[in-house]
Amino acid sequence: MTFPKNFLWGGATAANQCEGAWNIDGKGDSIPDHVMGGNLNKQREFTKVIDLDKYYPSHEAIDFYHHYQGDIALFAEMGFKVFRLSIAWSRIFPKGDESTPNEAGLDFYDRVFDECAKYGIEPLVTISHFELPYHLGEKYNGFADRRVIDFYLNFAETLFKRYKNKVKYWLTFNEINFGTLPMGNRHLLGIIDGVDDVNRRYQALHHMLVASAKAVELGHEINPEFKIGCMLAYITMYPLSCKPEDVLACQQMNQVLNFFCGDVQVKGAYPFYMKKYFADHGITLDTPQEDLEILKKGTVDFYTFSYYMSTCIAGNPEGEDQTGGNLFGGVKNPHLETSEWGWQVDAIGLRYTLNQLYDRYEIPLMVVENGLGAIDKIEDDGSIHDDYRIDYIRKHVIEMDNAIQDGVDLIGYTSWGCIDLISGGTGEMAKRYGFIHVDKDDAGNGSLKRSKKDSFTWYKKVIETNGAVR
Ligand code: BG6
Repeated sequence: MTFPKNFLWGGATAANQCEGAWNIDGKGDSIPDHVMGGNLNKQREFTKVIDLDKYYPSHEAIDFYHHYQGDIALFAEMGFKVFRLSIAWSRIFPKGDESTPNEAGLDFYDRVFDECAKYGIEPLVTISHFELPYHLGEKYNGFADRRVIDFYLNFAETLFKRYKNKVKYWLTFNEINFGTLPMGNRHLLGIIDGVDDVNRRYQALHHMLVASAKAVELGHEINPEFKIGCMLAYITMYPLSCKPEDVLACQQMNQVLNFFCGDVQVKGAYPFYMKKYFADHGITLDTPQEDLEILKKGTVDFYTFSYYMSTCIAGNPEGEDQTGGNLFGGVKNPHLETSEWGWQVDAIGLRYTLNQLYDRYEIPLMVVENGLGAIDKIEDDGSIHDDYRIDYIRKHVIEMDNAIQDGVDLIGYTSWGCIDLISGGTGEMAKRYGFIHVDKDDAGNGSLKRSKKDSFTWYKKVIETNGAVR
């Protein structure tokens, strides 16, 4: 087998999808705290005023806030080397624009990191994972306002200084390329007025890219040992056919959606193709010289991404069968099967993607999200035989192994939702990714009891054998 000896095996979560305790110990409300539950066919409703008679999944989530010790012990039992988690910004700065942090919030993450350290688990911290404090949305429309760069930096600096000796691996923003799509407005950019203005969206994304670069520079000053990475949602794209129109459309879509943000964060400058894209879409950005300089200086140490599925792109998609997917779908690939949520499963696509990314950037890569959202059946004796999940992850592990043999520098893998949590897209609990089952349903009912699925024992073995799954 080819996985390096120190390969970082583990799992990933995000604060708003697992912590709960949404208004406890001084935490302010975040934008996701204003989003109600949904399902596959229904958009999640966003309400300015929180109606406590209604169900908002993030308010309790799986209550990791009060279960973190037991949960981390289970991760340790599986042999995790790394645990990816995010910090709830509004737990540290309840409104986002204060200058003094909330000590109780900082203390919570101290305890989480200490618990990880007890088992030799390395934390991998996403500074911001789709959860700006609500106040930053309400007062500033999030990153649309340049001042939010400084609030983010204050937040990042507070974390870097406080956890200087407890955390080595950091990611500045989750799935930053989500900002190229209208649906990125609220979740990622914090624009909550409900208007999609493409110019403002790209301006906000520019502010985030600047904030990310500044954080990288600052983090390295605070501790030169820090490894600070970017994080993108990688939607692998294939031309529907070898028709040049399909190939060209695929290349163009790939540039904007998959490459643009990574190019800025790894190479330190706006790529050439965005000039034409901005001109074609009537986008004029305010990018002062000092911003361009900071982008150049604040390049990342490693590149991380989520990978769940691939899609096809056609020059003329009209009349072609469509498929769903993470963030967005595309044209159906006749050679692939889909998950229960309509995402096309494509393990070989991961090898292809790893090669494509390493070829482009030549810096260490990490897969920080991957997994199968599925409905699990609990047997009478309480066991859960999730062989479909094992099969999905096994195939992806094999393709990571192949990519390493191809010469790709892959340093880690954190499967998404290593413990069941609420879905980011739909707010459901029924869409489960975990090795650990949590007793809770889509309406918010359940004991929150944790139990091991078959995949728990299987993944433990994967880690024990350093990826010997063939
Ligand atoms: C990623 C997000 O896009 O996909 C996660 O970073 C999210 O927050 C994950 O949960 C899976 O998506 P979903 O909609 O199945 O939860």
